[in-house]
Amino acid sequence: MKILGIESSCDETAAAIVENGRIILSSVVASQIEIHAKYGGVVPELASRKHIESIVAVVDESIKNAGITFEEIDAVAATQGPGLVGALLTGFSFAKAFAWARKLPFIGVDHLEGHMLSVFLNEKGPEFPYVALLASGGHTSLYLVKSYTDFEPLGHTRDDAAGEAYDKVSKMLGLGYPGGAVIDNLAASGDHRKIKFPKPFLDKESFDFSFSGLKSAAARYIQENKETYKCQLEDIAASFQESVTEVLTYKLIRAAVENGCSHIAITGGVAANRGLRQKATREAEKNGLTIHIPDISLCGDNAAMIASSGYYRLLKNITCPLDTDVYSRKP
Ligand code: KG4
Ligand code: ZN
Repeated sequence: MKILGIESSCDETAAAIVENGRIILSSVVASQIEIHAKYGGVVPELASRKHIESIVAVVDESIKNAGITFEEIDAVAATQGPGLVGALLTGFSFAKAFAWARKLPFIGVDHLEGHMLSVFLNEKGPEFPYVALLASGGHTSLYLVKSYTDFEPLGHTRDDAAGEAYDKVSKMLGLGYPGGAVIDNLAASGDHRKIKFPKPFLDKESFDFSFSGLKSAAARYIQENKETYKCQLEDIAASFQESVTEVLTYKLIRAAVENGCSHIAITGGVAANRGLRQKATREAEKNGLTIHIPDISLCGDNAAMIASSGYYRLLKNITCPLDTDVYSRKP
């Protein structure tokens, strides 16, 4: 079964064709980063307009790259939420129209569930139940994934998301937006022992996170070292990254152990982080856990994960009527 997936929840217009939930026949991502970078963050109105301009070409390209015809598409899946409502509506409405015109099943997919299933794309994937860390620009959560359609929340961030903290610290350091990859690169040549940043919530029993205090600590450090911080960018990046990745890894491993899971996954834009990938892999090994991390191209927003999630929903006959609406926050 070949599913057309469409993603437009934030600043990427994406379309993909995925076969049987796993095999990526094509995955096209048109990023709007250049447009939003000069504003230091995503401007919702600009994002919606750009999605409208790009969606037809992106879908056309995904079908062409997959080497299939329109007639070979069996169903259409699109991101229903969470995200920016105007942006979501563009892809969701386009997908509905496509499904209606071709009389195909239409499936609304949760963006976060899509990220957590991205570990099955082109891979064997984890055994159920597994614990998934979802760390992106808008969310940082741990879930117990019991099946392709059953996700039990274990903890969430109480304030900033991990990716958001990266983006804000990058902005403070004058390194632009988005900041995750920039800080990750700098951290590789820095010494994480140079600055002691807090490791928020590390000692707390719960699986919740908090990153705003860490962000403030970084802001304070920059303020107190106004004259010299520009010569310490690598050490600041490495020390900040050490705090974030330590908390994420520690809670992920503990959640797996406490829930009796032998498989774990790290997903979402922040899963591209080299420091996190290394630390989580090392700790998983120490604890006898099997870790699953998507290819870097599948960590950020993409439509292959939406098509995949759509496939598993369709297998359970979970489709959407065409008057279904999008949602900005997970209901
Ligand atoms: O999943 P995603 O593409 O979009 C959302 O759904 O939010 O995640 C984007 C976030 C941004 O905050 C970006 O700075 C962060 O992921 N990110 C990274 C890295 N690459 C992207 N954070 C840390 N290290 C990276 N290498
Ligand atoms: Zn995302």
